[in-house]
Amino acid sequence: MTDLVGEAVRARFPIFEHTTYANSCSQGALSVDVRRAYEEYLAGWDAHGAEWEHWVERAEAARGAFARLVGAEPDEVAVTTSVSQAVSSLVSALPLERERRKIVISEFEFPTVGQIAHAQELRGAEVVHVRPEPDGRIPLERFAEAVDEETALVCCTAISYRTGYRLDVAEVARIAHERGALCLADSYQAAGAVPLDVNALGVDFLTAGTVKYLLASAGLAFMVVRRGLHERLLPTQTGWFADEDIFRMDISDYSPAPDARRFDSGTPPVPNIYAGIAGIGIVVEAGVPAIEAHVGALRARLLAGLDELAATVATPRGEGEIGPLVCVVSSDPDALVAALAAERIVTSARDANLRISLHLYNVEEDIARILQALARHRALLV
Ligand SMILES: Cc1ncc(COP(=O)(O)O)c(C=O)c1O
Repeated sequence: MTDLVGEAVRARFPIFEHTTYANSCSQGALSVDVRRAYEEYLAGWDAHGAEWEHWVERAEAARGAFARLVGAEPDEVAVTTSVSQAVSSLVSALPLERERRKIVISEFEFPTVGQIAHAQELRGAEVVHVRPEPDGRIPLERFAEAVDEETALVCCTAISYRTGYRLDVAEVARIAHERGALCLADSYQAAGAVPLDVNALGVDFLTAGTVKYLLASAGLAFMVVRRGLHERLLPTQTGWFADEDIFRMDISDYSPAPDARRFDSGTPPVPNIYAGIAGIGIVVEAGVPAIEAHVGALRARLLAGLDELAATVATPRGEGEIGPLVCVVSSDPDALVAALAAERIVTSARDANLRISLHLYNVEEDIARILQALARHRALLV
């Protein structure tokens, strides 16, 4: 049996007929499967009008699919429209005014996590930043120094969208728990690319969405909330799909669902749920370990070629420190992205870095094309 990676899956992503796509850290490529899922949604809507029972069932299917992907139970998963919505409802459940008031965030958090943390300053919270060393790593001691008995929540990011650095999330969770704090791992840049198991990681909350390595579109995200925490966390940012009985339509009180669904909100994002199920389906069909191994081999080729070009790789390369995203320092990253785009090579830029991100559909020929183009634009590399 051939693994469903590389050439075996590429034909399902039509963009590769004309483009070298290496930008899954921004948006996964569109598959025929996801296009078909959207068409199925439209066809059902057209044929039946309101298909609410079926649509709600699809939301539950998405909840279950994400739960299986990260080793959680479906009742530990909230279905949301974005990580922002999930994290906002999570922090709304923390009694920051009365009890532990600190939120610790790594410097690699996506803007939304940092901004939501700082918004809690209006409720009396204090936000503590954990900063990386000049080599791009965040030593665990930095977290140990920042987290104390006043800390309510430690936010870390499994793989940095800025540098591709992969953090030892399990150790961060251990440090948080040693001091009685909760731990959130934003895993948006990891889900679908590297194996994730909430039990092995030991985190309390794990977030991800479908836009990137889960191969679907904007408007669908998930948050795992570990069992044992549900009852003590009462989100004040809520909505009717978080109620214990959605169809009772009762406005006389606040009675959230007993499980992680209490972090859901309003009407589920049905079209994106169709797409999300299809995207996650491809990842599951290929298998995350097979994807990781395939990408690992391509990444080794890429890094070797970058070394030959004497380029500066910003992503730390130690064992377990690098995932699907390789960042290369550029004197003008926007110009470099544009120059590559002119050759039909899609990448992206963050800070001073060119981001090259690989997924199951990339092949050696993509790496060769990228390296040849970078050699031509060597003047833009540092
Ligand atoms: C690490 C990370 N977190 C969160 C997001 C997005 O958050 P939201 O779903 O709120 O747009 C992204 C990318 O867009 C990301 O890379």
